[in-house]
Amino acid sequence: MQRVRRAKENKEVVSIAYAGNIVEVWEHFHKENIFIDLGSDQTSLHNPWAGGYYPVGMSYEESNRMMAEQPELFKVKVQESLRRHASAVNQHTAKGTYFFDYGNAFLLEASRAGAEVMSSDGIHFRYPSYVQDIMGPMCFDFGFGPFRWVCISGKQEDLDYTDHLAAQMLEELLETAPDEIHSQLTDNINWIKAASENKLVVGSKARILYADAEGRMKIAGAFNKAVREGRIGAVVLGRDHHDVSGTDSPFRETSNIYDGSRFTADMAVHNVIGDSFRGATWVSLHNGGGVGWGEVINGGFGMLLDGSTEADRKLKNMLHFDVNNGIARRAWARNAGALSAIDRAQKENEQLQVTIPFLVDDQWLDQLI
Ligand SMILES: NC(=O)c1ccc[n+]([C@@H]2O[C@H](COP(=O)([O-])OP(=O)(O)OC[C@H]3O[C@@H](n4cnc5c(N)ncnc54)[C@H](O)[C@@H]3O)[C@@H](O)[C@H]2O)c1
Repeated sequence: MQRVRRAKENKEVVSIAYAGNIVEVWEHFHKENIFIDLGSDQTSLHNPWAGGYYPVGMSYEESNRMMAEQPELFKVKVQESLRRHASAVNQHTAKGTYFFDYGNAFLLEASRAGAEVMSSDGIHFRYPSYVQDIMGPMCFDFGFGPFRWVCISGKQEDLDYTDHLAAQMLEELLETAPDEIHSQLTDNINWIKAASENKLVVGSKARILYADAEGRMKIAGAFNKAVREGRIGAVVLGRDHHDVSGTDSPFRETSNIYDGSRFTADMAVHNVIGDSFRGATWVSLHNGGGVGWGEVINGGFGMLLDGSTEADRKLKNMLHFDVNNGIARRAWARNAGALSAIDRAQKENEQLQVTIPFLVDDQWLDQLI
């Protein structure tokens, strides 16, 4: 606190770690008139009644006991706390703090608790989710999402070689990439080049980076070739659920789809079925991923690259669909990045034909009305 006070006096911008109930932190900062530039919440509110969120005013032990012995009362305490939590956040945003939902169901659970988090239309939240502001328009709409692989030999040198190949493939793509995806590519080239030295791997020799369909296919193709040539052992591909296409989640992954279809659950199902026919080694359809049971449907896949020509065919077929299915959906919702990405995808692959929505010229519409 002293450091924050000093920073405040010197008008410095600081980021701080402060232990305590988050509600008290927001309230204390308001009382001390400490300005917060950017705020969010990362309690595990996808699981509000069983330990994801600890109500203000109760100790850890007291909460755990009530959760087990008086679950209904615990629910009341969580909801009381959420109302107080939201009202503390609102005091800051009234002073200019930019608050966003981190995709942990904070706004959803706060709204269910009757907290003041709705906008005046009574339909939308008054704060955006980070997918609406950042991930959607910068990444998902362009097909960029978390592409993963595991070197099943368990050898560090295999992982290092795949890192090298991934960087090389992304650099090749950057040479001809349109400006609108330059930063996504360069960020990921920087990441993958530095990944090994940061020593983040603690178990399986696995890696993740953000790539679009073209990038994923190119990287996977290079891996399969390396397996075929005996440079590395077999590789398994996958992706996170937090991606362009595999997840229908109106409060997170699909929250920047504004045509009403974010409340449907068919994209994840389409992906699972489409991927399974196009060569996935296994698929999964599950529920709850990160935002809570019943709030989201997730479709996933695994694909074994064993160096065969069959794997070459499958990886092109499946990865292309796995990403472009979601871009098509985002293009139907008229998302600008997705309209341009699906246009490029159709030019690159004539077999892909996506019906683009009829776009009315806004100026023309304004004149008419
Ligand atoms: N946006 C994303 O990409 C993304 C990624 C991962 C996780 N998430 C979501 O973020 C949430 C958190 O994920 P995690 O892996 O960090 O979970 P976690 O359970 O490891 O951490 C949550 C922390 O919140 C603390 N906490 C709970 N109630 C609190 C309170 N009232 N005040 C202060 N601290 C409190 C807990 O003690 C715990 O340390 C989850 O809902 C998850 O689904 C989002």
